[in-house]
Amino acid sequence: MAITFDDEKKIFLLHTPHSTYVIRIFEGRVLHGGWVKRIKNYSGACAMPLIDRAFAAVPEDLHGKCDFSPDTVQWEYPVALRGDTRSPAIEVIGNGGTVECELLYEAHRIYKGKKALVGLPATYTNTDDEADTLEIDLYDPNSALKVTLFYTVWNTLDVICRHSVLKNSAKDVLDVRSAMSASVDFPHARFSMLQLSGAHARERHVIMRELVPGMQKVESRRTASSHQQNPFIALVEQGATETHGDVFGFNLVYSGNFTAQTEVDQYGVSRVQLGINPFNFSWKLAEGESFTTPETVMVYSQNGLGEMSRIYHDLYRSNLCRGEWRDKVRPIVINNWEATYFNFNSEKLFALADTAAAEGIELFVLDDGWFGKRNNDWTSLGDWDVFTEKLPNGLSEISEGIHARGMLFGLWFEPEMISPDSNLYRAHPDWCLHCTERSRTLGRHQLVLDMSRKDVVDYLFEKLSAVLSSCKIDYVKWDFNRSPSDVGSALLPVEKQQEVSHRFYLGLYDLLERLNKKFPHILFESCSGGGGRFDPAMLYYMPQTWTSDNTDGLSRLAIQEGTSIAYPASAMSCHVSAVPNHQVGRVTSLSLRGHVAMAGTFGYELDLNKLSDLEKAEIKEQVAWYKDIRHTAEFGDLYRLRSPRSCTAFSESPLFAWESVEKDKSKAVVTAVWSFSEANESYDILKLEGLDENANYKIKSLAGLSIKMLVRQFFPSAPDSEFCVVADDTVISGEELMNIGLCIINRTNYGGSLHFKLERV
Ligand code: GLA
Repeated sequence: MAITFDDEKKIFLLHTPHSTYVIRIFEGRVLHGGWVKRIKNYSGACAMPLIDRAFAAVPEDLHGKCDFSPDTVQWEYPVALRGDTRSPAIEVIGNGGTVECELLYEAHRIYKGKKALVGLPATYTNTDDEADTLEIDLYDPNSALKVTLFYTVWNTLDVICRHSVLKNSAKDVLDVRSAMSASVDFPHARFSMLQLSGAHARERHVIMRELVPGMQKVESRRTASSHQQNPFIALVEQGATETHGDVFGFNLVYSGNFTAQTEVDQYGVSRVQLGINPFNFSWKLAEGESFTTPETVMVYSQNGLGEMSRIYHDLYRSNLCRGEWRDKVRPIVINNWEATYFNFNSEKLFALADTAAAEGIELFVLDDGWFGKRNNDWTSLGDWDVFTEKLPNGLSEISEGIHARGMLFGLWFEPEMISPDSNLYRAHPDWCLHCTERSRTLGRHQLVLDMSRKDVVDYLFEKLSAVLSSCKIDYVKWDFNRSPSDVGSALLPVEKQQEVSHRFYLGLYDLLERLNKKFPHILFESCSGGGGRFDPAMLYYMPQTWTSDNTDGLSRLAIQEGTSIAYPASAMSCHVSAVPNHQVGRVTSLSLRGHVAMAGTFGYELDLNKLSDLEKAEIKEQVAWYKDIRHTAEFGDLYRLRSPRSCTAFSESPLFAWESVEKDKSKAVVTAVWSFSEANESYDILKLEGLDENANYKIKSLAGLSIKMLVRQFFPSAPDSEFCVVADDTVISGEELMNIGLCIINRTNYGGSLHFKLERV
C-alpha cells in the first residue's frame, strides 16, 4: 500500500515512488506535514513546530491547552474565520450567514484503485494496482457541512490527485462560495512559480516569477480555461533547472473559470491552491446534495522540469485520455481551412484531396463552412445541416470521395455556439446564455448556447448524432471560438444564476461523454480558436487539441515548448501552413515548418495545389519520414534539450532543441531550430538524453529537398551531410551522444533547423 496510517501518532503517509506526502491529525484538525523527497522511516521529529504567535486567534477548545496558531501552521484544507487569515480552501455560507466553519476529522478509508468523479472528467486507473486512494471525512460541528478529501497516490508515477466532495447532511441550504480542489502548504518560499500564459495565437509561453510575500495567481474569468492562462502552475525550487532540483506541478482538470495561486504568508509559508474560480460562482446545496470539485493533478519531480513534464505526459497518455485512439499513432492531416477558408465547393475539395492522397496524407478534414448558409462567420452556427448550395450532393459525396481516395474523412463543428442569423436562434432565442433584461454580447458575431440546459444538450446530442451517422466520419474537430460573457440562464431561478458557469461545463462534459460512447471509433480533436481550451479536462474526451491558430514555424516554438510543460506530444496538434504565414506574415523554409510541426500530431493546412513540384516532392518526403518517426514523436519520452529561456552565455544562440526517445530506447528523434540567424555564430553542443549508453545508434537526417537545392545554388558541391551534424549512417555510441554531445552550428541562414533520427544498431 502506498498509503499508511499510524493510529497512535495519527499520521498518514502517502508514498509515490520518489516522494512522501504527510498528513497529521492534531486535536481533530487535519494538518499538512510536508511533501518531500521520499522518506523510508518517518518519525515526525522534523515537523514544523506548533508555536503560539502574536496576533493569532485560537479556537476556544485549544486555547491555553497547547501552542497552536491556526494562522501559522500548515493545513490540508484550511477554513475561514477560525484563526487562519490566509486564503481558505472553502467558503460556505450556512444558517449563520458567515463563511465561518471548522472542519474536524471524522473517519477515513484507504483502498486500492480510484473512483470516478461524478459528472467530471478525471484521471483513472486501468487496474486497481496502479494507485491507492485515501478518503478523509471531515465535519463541521456547527453546520450541516461535511467534506471528504480524496487523495489518489500513483504506484509507479510521482503523482497525487486530489479533489473534495462537499455534502449537506441536514436541512439548512448551504451556499458554497468557494471550494478548492487542492491546497498544499509548503514550509518556505524559496520557489519560482511557473505559469503558462499568453493570448490568442500566442498561447502558453513559459513565464517564471520568484515568490514574494502575498498572493501570486493566474486565473480565468472567461468561462473557459483560456488562451491567456492555462490551469497549470509549478513551484520550481530555487536553482532547479530542466534536469535538476525539486519541482512541484499542479494542473486542474477543468475547462471553466479557475484559479491557480500561491500565497506566501508572513513566515514564508507558501500556500498553493487550485480550484474553480470563486468569481461569479456560488452553488446552493440542499439537504442530501453533494458538490464535487474538479481534480488537481499534483506531480513531484526531483530531477527538474523535464522529469515533471514526462510524468504528466505518461499519466495523461495512459490515465486521462481514453478511447480507441488513445494509444494509436495519429493520422497525418490535410485541413482545408487555410487552403480555402469559406470559399470551397466539392471540386476544390477533391482537387486538394487528390494531391493530399498522392502525398501520402491520411486524413482529410473539412473545416468551417459546410453547414447552414455559412459563407462567412456571421451566420448559421447551430444549423448543422449541410449547405446544399455549396455541396449539392451532401456530405456523403464528400465522405465517399475522400474514402475512395484512400483517406479518412473529418468534419468541423462548433456545437456550443449559435449565430443570431440561424434557424436555431429564430426558433429558440432563449437557448443562448444571457442575462434576462440586458442586450446580448456578441463575439465573432455569435452567441453561446446555454449548455446548463438539458434540452439544449439533448438537442445537440441528437443533431450531431444525426450528422455523424449520415455518412462515414472518422474525425471531428470540436471548436469553441469565443469565451462566454452573458453567463446567465433562462431556466434557473435568480438565486442559482451563479451556478451557470459550472453547470455549462457539466452540460458540455455530459454531451461529450454521450458522443464518445456512441461514436467510439471517431478521433475527436478539441479546439478553441487554436489553444483556448488546451486543458486536461478536454483531453479526457478528445485525445488531441489544436495547439494554436498561429502556424508560423518560429512562433510555434515557444507555444509548443510551453504546451509540452504539462501536455504530451500525442495531444498537441501541429500543422505546416503556407508562407508568407497567414498570422504573422513571416517566410520560413518548408523544411523548418515541417521539423517544427513534427513535434506533435502532424498535418498540413495549406493549398497543396499552389506549391511547386519541388515543394510537393519535399512534402512527400516529410510525410513518409513522419510515418516512420511518429510513434517516437507522439509517444516517446520528451527531453527539452535547449531553450532560449536558458541561454546564459552571451555567445549562445537562440536555439530550441528537443528530443523524443522510445520507451525501450531503441529510437530517438531530435530537432534543433534557431529562432534567428546571427552572423558568425558560435557552435552549440547538443548533449542528448535518455539513450542507452551501452548501445550504438545510426543517425539519419531530414534536411529537406528545397533546402538542399537552395544550398546547392551557392555551394554546388555541398554533400548531404552538410545539413546534418555528422554524415548520414554514421554510427555513434549512446555514451558519446549523451556525454560529449553533437556539435551543431547554424552555418548559413539557409533554414535554421536540423532534424534527425537515431536508430539503435
Ligand atoms: C478557429 C480554429 C481554426 C478554424 C476556424 C474556423 O479559429 O482555430 O482552426 O477551424 O476556427 O472558423
